[in-house]
Amino acid sequence: MKPKVLLGIESSCDETAAAVVRSGSELLSNIVASQGHIHKKYGGVVPEVAARSHIEVINPVIDEALAQAFPNDSDPWQRIDAIAVTNGPGLSGSLLIGTMAARTLALFKNKPLYPVDHVMGHVYGNFIQPDNDTTWQPPKFPVLALIVSGLHSQLVTFYDHLEYELLGQTLDDAVGEAFDKVSRIIGFGYPGGPAIERAAQHGDPFAFKFPKARPRPKHSPLGLGPYDFSFSGLKTAVLRQVQGLVGVDHNYPSFQLAERLSEAQRNSLAASFNRVAAETLVEKTLAAFDEHAPRSVVIAGGVAASQELRRQLRAALPIDITYPPISLCTDNAAMIASLGYYVAQRRQPTSPHDVSIEPSLSM
Ligand code: KG4
Ligand code: ZN
Repeated sequence: MKPKVLLGIESSCDETAAAVVRSGSELLSNIVASQGHIHKKYGGVVPEVAARSHIEVINPVIDEALAQAFPNDSDPWQRIDAIAVTNGPGLSGSLLIGTMAARTLALFKNKPLYPVDHVMGHVYGNFIQPDNDTTWQPPKFPVLALIVSGLHSQLVTFYDHLEYELLGQTLDDAVGEAFDKVSRIIGFGYPGGPAIERAAQHGDPFAFKFPKARPRPKHSPLGLGPYDFSFSGLKTAVLRQVQGLVGVDHNYPSFQLAERLSEAQRNSLAASFNRVAAETLVEKTLAAFDEHAPRSVVIAGGVAASQELRRQLRAALPIDITYPPISLCTDNAAMIASLGYYVAQRRQPTSPHDVSIEPSLSM
């Protein structure tokens, strides 16, 4: 019998997470211990600190996911058919903690184990039925997926579960990374996305003109492909704009710039960057939509939480877009358990002895 109820385990970055999902779509529990508050004071994720925090909470997080999924069972493990764990991409030390926990549990509890790709996992947040939404339908194939997180910016077409074509990806910074770096430059904390979104509400999105990386012409061998992204130029443009506004040259320490900006300037910088970053994503998504005629368009990853991105996509595309609730946009283990379910229907499990981390795994 193929596994139906999966325990998912996720620890690739700074969230320690475990969840139980039935049949790929029915969410039974979803526990996330976020380290955001720990890394905030450093302005970004510190890998060693992240790994140490994962060690401290991984067991209680897994226990809690099992207890919430099966509150009336004295041994919830009996109800678990298989384990899915993120084995890449991500921070090595962080991935090690989740995979070690999963391997150990798979051996001791005698459960099949499926290592899965974190980035593909983000797409599967869209295959989980949101709470109490009886009208919900899963995305229809072919699915065009815009995957946008702190580490990834990709456009992918899924022809079926696990069968995909990578259309394009970022050649430098991921879009979430650009949000985080710009947030630092203009004086907001980590993570940058939510901070920029908040400030943007009080600023003028057309106050500053920032450039968009232009794709190379179709079939040209050089530069950006038609669906590739580049965000480092946009980030640098914000930096130069700020240096110009406060009247300093390129050598002035970037971490001292923000204190010389007015609140109005910071808000309008945030609003203008927020608008242009979303426009860049939307232009490529629209072009891919026109060429590939998908039946569903989904957005996934932390940046899918962006209201501006959702608003612009809705305005640009002729069909509805699908995105998960925020709790399934940012890193979580429910998406890992859902993806694990579809992997388990199609592939053999991996021996716990053979599951290794793949920090630079790419779709
Ligand atoms: O998927 P995720 O939780 O972790 C990674 O796998 O990277 O994504 C985190 C990223 C961060 O860069 C954060 O700034 C961004 O998602 N983010 C947002 C928003 N909320 C989170 N970016 C733009 N707008 C948001 N509302
Ligand atoms: Zn992620």
